[in-house]
Amino acid sequence: MRKPVIAIDGYSSTGKSSISKIIAQELGLVHMDTGALYRGITYFALQNCLNNEGEINLSQLFARLNEIHLEFKPIDQELVLFLNGINISNEIRRNDVAANVSLIACQKEVRDCLLETQREIAKNGGVILDGRDIGTVVLPKADYKFFLTASIEERTRRRFLELQSLGIETDENAVMRNLINRDKIDSEREVAPLRKASDAILIDNTHLSKKETIALILSQIDDI
Ligand code: DC
Repeated sequence: MRKPVIAIDGYSSTGKSSISKIIAQELGLVHMDTGALYRGITYFALQNCLNNEGEINLSQLFARLNEIHLEFKPIDQELVLFLNGINISNEIRRNDVAANVSLIACQKEVRDCLLETQREIAKNGGVILDGRDIGTVVLPKADYKFFLTASIEERTRRRFLELQSLGIETDENAVMRNLINRDKIDSEREVAPLRKASDAILIDNTHLSKKETIALILSQIDDI
C-alpha cells in the first residue's frame, strides 16, 4: 500500500507544524516543517550577508545561495535542521530570524532554491509537508490538502502563550501586530502567496483543540 502525500497550509499560529508532527507519527509519515527552511536561509543571511546598516543584502544572499546546504536529520525521533553540518534548530526560532523571514520568503530566488528540496522528500510518498504554498505550488498533486485558519484573537492568544512558555517577554498587542504583518506579507507577495488551494479542505480551528483538529484531519484520510 502506498503511503499518502499530505499538504497542510495555513496562517501562522494555527498549529500547522505541531499538528503535522503528530499526524506523521500516527500514520508513519515523514514530516517536513517547510517554514524551518525559510528560517534557515534567513539565519544564514543574518550571519553572512549584512550591509553596513546591519540589514540583509539580498543580492549578496542570492549570490551565496549555492553555499547553503540545509538538511533535516533525525535526532531523538525529531527531524532537526542542519545548516552546512551545524544544528540550527534553536537559532531559527530567534526573534531576529522571525523578524526577517517574511522578507526572505518573498524572494523568488529563495523560493526556487527550496522547491527541489521540498519536492525531493515527497517523491516516494509517505510525507506530510506543512507551510504556505504546499498545496498550491510545491505539491499541487498531493493526495490530501488541508488549509488551517483561526481568528486573529485566538492565534494571538496561542502565540502569546507559546512565547511565554519559552520565557520570551512580549505583550499581546505586539504579538497581534506581528501576526497581522506576517499574514499580510505572506498573502500579498507575488511569488507563491499564502492561499488556499481550490481543492484543499478548509479547517477553521478557532474553537477546536489541537486534538480535535487532528481527529478532523485523520477522519478525512483513507488508505490509498
Ligand atoms: O511557519 P513559519 O512561521 O516557521 O514560517 C516562517 C516564514 O516562512 C513565514 O513568514 C512564511 C514563510 N513560509 C513560506 O513562505 N512558505 C512556506 N512553505 C513555509 C513558510
